[in-house]
Amino acid sequence: MIETDNRIGDKVKKGKKIYEGKAKILYETDNPDLVIQEFKDDATAFDATKRGTIKQKGVINNEISSALFQMLELKGIPTHFVKKLSDREMLAKRLDIVLVEVTMRNIAAGGLSKSLGIEEGTVLKTPVLEYHYKSDPLHDPLINDYHIEMLGLATAKEMKKIKDYSFSVNEILRDFFGKVGLKLVDFKLEFGRFKGKILLGDEISPDTCRLWDKKTNEKLDKDRFRRDLGRIEEAYQEVLKRIKS
Ligand code: TMP
Ligand code: ASP
Repeated sequence: MIETDNRIGDKVKKGKKIYEGKAKILYETDNPDLVIQEFKDDATAFDATKRGTIKQKGVINNEISSALFQMLELKGIPTHFVKKLSDREMLAKRLDIVLVEVTMRNIAAGGLSKSLGIEEGTVLKTPVLEYHYKSDPLHDPLINDYHIEMLGLATAKEMKKIKDYSFSVNEILRDFFGKVGLKLVDFKLEFGRFKGKILLGDEISPDTCRLWDKKTNEKLDKDRFRRDLGRIEEAYQEVLKRIKS
């Protein structure tokens, strides 16, 4: 596996906890520009009304995310990824997170099927990009560029970058997953600011993507947890196995 930069963070020290989210914990380091993302086995769905754990999820998602961030960097997408530190820890650049979650959809499922009545599995004529306001108390409402400007969440210039990167990431990931027999149905991205630049942040994993087996349409992602389909850990392991193939 290729490390993006082996020198950065070689002797980094883990500091205070900054924030604990649903699936990850963020720690300071002795370098103010760097943080450690620790991946947990905890899983939540439907606004955290459903909770559980998925065995080894943290380890698997760290490995999948690290591999995908490295691959995206090589294809010209700037990300927060610095290096994988351990089974559950990733060293990353400390972002000022943009409170806009980007959802990209290639095939109808989940929220899109529900809101627009499109049958799950319908291939969309063109990829569909959505923005959601990252706000737990407001339940991540769907927003558009005008809401983003009105709320001051990001500048028009920043949103142009975010949109361009999101479409490029879709092309790259669709192609990458396609080659290992997986359909990229949809996924969610988060971005942040770092030294005046927009970088891709957070994670890319079966928690944040819908991935279906190309031949059988078997769901190999968090929908197995959301919909109580069983064999959740096996599905995550299968995605990792294919990525590494
Ligand atoms: P949705 O169909 O529920 O809107 O989900 C679209 C994609 O975004 C799907 O791949 C799962 C991912 N996602 C997250 O990563 N976090 C979330 O909180 C939600 C609702 C979806
Ligand atoms: N993780 C989100 C939550 O807990 C939603 C999801 O991924 O389904 O609400």
